[in-house]
Amino acid sequence: MANTWLKTAVFYEIYPNSFADDNGDGYGDLKGIIKKLDYIKSLGANAIWLNPHYDSPFMDGGYDVRDYFKVSSRFGTEADFDEFIGAAHAKGIKVILDLVPGHTSEENADFLKSAEATPNDMYDRFIWTRGEWDFPQGFKAISGRHQRKGNYIVNFYSTQPSLNYGFNRVDDPNWQFSYKSDEAIATREWLKSVMRFWLERGADGFRVDMADSLVKNDGDQGDKPATSELWRNIRAMMDEEYPDAILVSEWSNPQAIRAGFHADFMLDHWGNPYNLLVRGEEVQDGHSYFDIEGRGDAAKIAESFSEWYGKIKDDGYLAIITCNHDTPRLGGFYTHEQLKLIYATLFTLPGVPFVYYGDEIGMKYVKDIPSVECGFARTGSRTPMQWSLDKNAGFSAADKIFLPTEIDKAVNVESQSKDKKSLLNFMRELIAFRKTREELTARDFEFMHAVGSEPLVYRRGKLVIVVNPLKVKQIAPVTLAKNDKDIFSVGKAAKIKKDGIECPPLSFTVFECK
Ligand code: GLC
Repeated sequence: MANTWLKTAVFYEIYPNSFADDNGDGYGDLKGIIKKLDYIKSLGANAIWLNPHYDSPFMDGGYDVRDYFKVSSRFGTEADFDEFIGAAHAKGIKVILDLVPGHTSEENADFLKSAEATPNDMYDRFIWTRGEWDFPQGFKAISGRHQRKGNYIVNFYSTQPSLNYGFNRVDDPNWQFSYKSDEAIATREWLKSVMRFWLERGADGFRVDMADSLVKNDGDQGDKPATSELWRNIRAMMDEEYPDAILVSEWSNPQAIRAGFHADFMLDHWGNPYNLLVRGEEVQDGHSYFDIEGRGDAAKIAESFSEWYGKIKDDGYLAIITCNHDTPRLGGFYTHEQLKLIYATLFTLPGVPFVYYGDEIGMKYVKDIPSVECGFARTGSRTPMQWSLDKNAGFSAADKIFLPTEIDKAVNVESQSKDKKSLLNFMRELIAFRKTREELTARDFEFMHAVGSEPLVYRRGKLVIVVNPLKVKQIAPVTLAKNDKDIFSVGKAAKIKKDGIECPPLSFTVFECK
């Protein structure tokens, strides 16, 4: 791979609305982020993923882009953006932006032009049927909102019209273009112009929203051959023009790496390793590995993780999240002691760590708050960052803020910074430890023991890692040499015995083996 920085990157995901409000209008902004760069650095993170910062009517938290070439005035000026990139770089922090390639906002000027009654140069930039009564099967089509004769396809919400990257299988040539057509290629080239615009301004790459959604009728096994071809074309442009820039896909399928992405997120999809490790409580009735009652199954996790990792091979990275802006936070479902075990496990598996803002202090998923900007259930994971016990938890001086903040004595940066044993300080130690051991960013990896809720044991080069998720002592049936040393632990370190490794309750230990 052309670039090397991704290998040792630790990302911090920032949802800009919610991080730090500098101008006191109740929304987070770029100036606020600039003031917190030292904090991000103190965590050990050396990269930021910024959720959409573009001009938007915010009908989907900014994933509905009105103007791809403009910073949302909510977040600051164009100069603030440039200052943010410059300040981050000066501190050795890379910044990747959120690229939303599949759909625009319904207020996007190109879309509005495509919706006019008479044909024009934007007519085929979006996907329109040719008759007002055409409601094609398998697509969400919106009707009756514009003067153009026909209905348009949307990707996610009704406010997000799909851009036209064409179809792989063309069922109705009256309105479906081949993905090889000039019209589809023109959209791809427009996307490149968006990317170049931000890369020229200093961005270090993109997290790519719904990366697999571009070409329609494109296979059904997750392989998406035409969409993959499109991304390989874009990757070739990047390798040539911006060889240090990276692409991280929201695809959650090893296919994404074959499509040219440098890394792909392992998302919280039902039954995948992340989900089986930590999120079973939500969707599978208490079957995650970290379930305190021991109802999880490490075997399933090892099987699916190994399959996934095996498919990626040396071609790219797995992006491993604590959580994200679409997923219920783990805080509140687990105690801080459990979160330490969870983060330690996630960040010693092979992959690139992504800390979602606030997860490092164990911010809770806030249940039952009214939806804002179409966050719906996701709103509870997007509440403002908890900096202190001050007004609005130190997030903003405004009297009215866009989402209520939780004021929690134990869950804020100021209190946890003072407490040596806090989750925040543990996170700092964990990331620092990860940096000292080359094995943790190398490829070498294997599961050594993965059975039910017994201790999970895996090897990273010379390091052997042992996790006990239960409140009771357990023995892992893995033999290590007597003088193999424990070099990092959560809770009391495990001990090497004749019949295996004796793990104290709720413990995580890294051994260095000869
Ligand atoms: C992605 C984003 C999500 C957004 C959706 C539509 O899944 O992460 O927040 O709503 O795409 O763009």
